[in-house]
Amino acid sequence: MVKLKINLFINFESTYIASIKNKLLLSSNSLQTKYRKQISKYEREGFYKILFSRRDVRSHFIKKDIPLTTILRIINAAHHAPSVGYSQPWNFILIKEEQTRMKIKNSFLREHQKAIRLLENNKAKQNKYKSLKLEGILESNLNLCVTYDYTRFAPFIIGKTSIPETGIYSVCCAIQNLWLAARAEEIGMGWVSIISNRELKKILEIPKYIKPIAYLCLGYVSEFSQTPDLEKSKWLKRLALNEIIYLEKWGNQVRKNG
Ligand SMILES: Cc1cc2nc3c(=O)[nH]c(=O)nc-3n(C[C@H](O)[C@H](O)[C@H](O)COP(=O)(O)O)c2cc1C
Repeated sequence: MVKLKINLFINFESTYIASIKNKLLLSSNSLQTKYRKQISKYEREGFYKILFSRRDVRSHFIKKDIPLTTILRIINAAHHAPSVGYSQPWNFILIKEEQTRMKIKNSFLREHQKAIRLLENNKAKQNKYKSLKLEGILESNLNLCVTYDYTRFAPFIIGKTSIPETGIYSVCCAIQNLWLAARAEEIGMGWVSIISNRELKKILEIPKYIKPIAYLCLGYVSEFSQTPDLEKSKWLKRLALNEIIYLEKWGNQVRKNG
């Protein structure tokens, strides 16, 4: 069934696929050669520009298709993330169909209600939470589910023998690559985690042993906010660097004055 769905999608986009297939096959080696040289000052600036202007995007999506070549470039960037023992334990499910998205949106709505009920004893916070826009499932151009396969190249994975969670950490590295690559392409991306993984697995026909890690909404946007939405709405703010850096031992903060 899953294979059939993938085939349908591939048929739908077959002309695109045919035109880029060779490029993709070549991609790893040619890209690694292309980007091997020293990083110039301007390239470094460009990298930080992308990094600091990346945002979690839930609104401002515009109606414009992301070309398949761009989607594949972004996913290829994700696929070049570090992974424990080079296990590459990720898969990417591309979701365009509205019916599927509606089901996922309904899962969001149910989980969202549960979260609202958790704030029953704090009406002010509950109202603020209710006012936040926390997903762009239907408005975005493409939804993407990133999954974790703990069986890939198992059982012996270098680096995973003591800390099994390193498999999931690897998938998160891929997601961050994807987020930055999307920003570099002027594409907004939002992570929706207010979803039932159990329902998500059912809707997307994900096998039992595969774990969904992220449900992402991607699309071109009219603007990227300068600050995180949760900071703009005064929900939380970014911690100062000296609050998160410890010297030599846990809790030993860098003092501001000597
Ligand atoms: C694991 C993870 C789950 C997240 N889930 C949601 C979510 O369900 N809804 C949402 O609006 N944002 C979600 N976010 C985005 C964060 O709220 C956002 O990254 C944070 O507020 C900082 O903003 P910025 O990404 O624009 O810098 C999630 C981010 C991460 C890393």
